[in-house]
Amino acid sequence: MTQTTTDTVLTRAKRLKALTHGTHDALDNRLSSFHPFESREHYAAFLQMQYRFHRDVDALFDHPELNRLLPGLQQRRRLQQVEQDMRDLGIEIPALSVPPVFEAGKDVDIATALGWLYTEEGSNLGAAFLYKLAAKLGLDGNFGAHHLAPHPDGRAPNWHGFLEQFNAIELDANGEARTDAGAQAAFRQVDAYVETCCVLPEAEPELAS
Ligand code: HEM
Repeated sequence: MTQTTTDTVLTRAKRLKALTHGTHDALDNRLSSFHPFESREHYAAFLQMQYRFHRDVDALFDHPELNRLLPGLQQRRRLQQVEQDMRDLGIEIPALSVPPVFEAGKDVDIATALGWLYTEEGSNLGAAFLYKLAAKLGLDGNFGAHHLAPHPDGRAPNWHGFLEQFNAIELDANGEARTDAGAQAAFRQVDAYVETCCVLPEAEPELAS
């Protein structure tokens, strides 16, 4: 009996999952211990982090070659939803002095961009858990938590649709390595944003009576 290699060869996404597993866990712990849904103040800080990350990748969703490789990519962007959530909660959209990682109209290394998109699209899976917590603050897909809401086709089918396209893209060994580096860089970037955004000013010390 001949055995196909499909069971034994790691897909690109599985390889990336294994590669970023430790960073994902650390990020998950760091974010969870911040309790982003403890109050609207915490959630506002979480949105600042999300805004920065989704702004970094937003230009990729308009890229013609990436849209050819990943049909429907343009509809996957979530920056506008994050901005809507900020407006819902009366949070000013920050005017950041640093440019986003990917800038509209500039050359993009496709393999690197794929790694970033893997991280961005995957983050929508963990959002299922976060979306449930958002309800505690009275937020949902119509108000304040647009960017965490499931895709109309369902979160898992939407992710599997992405994976099918993503895993089918042909890259040489060098391209695979750049995709790995892109996914890792995206995780590092989010981690840095969590570190700077997801902190609240120290509570005023209580005055001794
Ligand atoms: C408290 C925060 C987070 C929690 C609780 C969380 C949780 C999860 C869970 C449970 C999954 C697996 C879902 C499944 O297989 O059905 C997942 C997948 C994933 N998450 Fe997170 N996540 C969090 C934050 C993030 C962030 C901030 C990012 C990156 C920006 C991220 C990137 C990913 C990626 C790329 C996957 C897909 C892994 C794969 O290839 O299957 N996550 N997350």
